[in-house]
Amino acid sequence: MKTRITELLGIEHPIIQGGMAWVAEHHLAAAVSEAGGLGLIGGANAPAEVVREEIRKAKALTNKPIGVNVMLLSPHAAEVAKVVVEEGIKVVTTGAGTPEKYMDMWKAAGIKVIPVVASVALAKRMERYGADAIVAEGCESGGHIGEQTTMTLVPQVADAVSIPVIAAGGIGDGRGIAAVFMLGAEAVQLGTRFVVSKESIVHENYKQRIIKAKDIDSAVTGRTHGHPVRSLRNQMTREYARLEQEGKSFEELEYITLGTLRKAVQEGDITNGTVMAGQIAGMIEKEQTCKEMIEEMMEQAETLLGR
Ligand SMILES: Cc1cc2nc3c(=O)[nH]c(=O)nc-3n(C[C@H](O)[C@H](O)[C@H](O)COP(=O)(O)O)c2cc1C
Repeated sequence: MKTRITELLGIEHPIIQGGMAWVAEHHLAAAVSEAGGLGLIGGANAPAEVVREEIRKAKALTNKPIGVNVMLLSPHAAEVAKVVVEEGIKVVTTGAGTPEKYMDMWKAAGIKVIPVVASVALAKRMERYGADAIVAEGCESGGHIGEQTTMTLVPQVADAVSIPVIAAGGIGDGRGIAAVFMLGAEAVQLGTRFVVSKESIVHENYKQRIIKAKDIDSAVTGRTHGHPVRSLRNQMTREYARLEQEGKSFEELEYITLGTLRKAVQEGDITNGTVMAGQIAGMIEKEQTCKEMIEEMMEQAETLLGR
């Protein structure tokens, strides 16, 4: 299925794997790219040299394009921004802010810049600053979220900008892809479904928690301080919600979640760890390879869209 995004990024299928902290490392990114989508290395809060290593390891596994998600709030963001140039990366997505100050450097290096946004206003601003495309991410997503749903955000962003729009949040099969294409998207970004792929290094407990999740099993914490995060309900989300209700400060709440995503991803602590996942977790039923997931989703989407 050809769209402006597949052309822009030089990929076969309009499917991007989200740059997920601790999850989006070289095995997953390379597997998604090898399967014809775009795999991303998640920069998150990692030091620049760690990101460089991940890029090199991914490139050793695939000759297809891979991208990097630069988390702009990271203390290492400025160095990571340079590493992507030095390592010849051609696609960067950005989260948690606006990448304006890196735009000239990235453009000069021929990098396609794709900010992740949760509002029309930010989408328009990013287009003005020279973004090549936009990820419009609805609050069904796992991880840090905005307030708009994918259903409402995608068509409004698609109407507001002329650059291509990639829809994210709550997409887990070909029906989801077809639906957001009807809303004006030209590609999708998936997080939660790829967490349970065979190539994902996420602990089996985490994968099984997603597989067993019901539609209502995710919770949003952190709304009171304007930093909402969606993860699957457990002891950690209950404790966080209790402290939030007691009026604890943002710093105190941050402290209790420190390192808890890593604990869930690497150690499989799905009780006291943070099991970031989106509302679509309820629909995900099995572990598959990235290739199987992508082929299955594309076949279904193409049938539905009559392509
Ligand atoms: C475990 C997890 C970690 C995530 N970490 C990040 C991140 O570090 N940076 C980012 O831009 N998005 C992050 N996201 C969001 C994904 O990149 C993606 O946009 C989102 O998961 C799409 O929604 P879905 O989960 O419904 O597929 C994360 C999502 C998950 C599930």
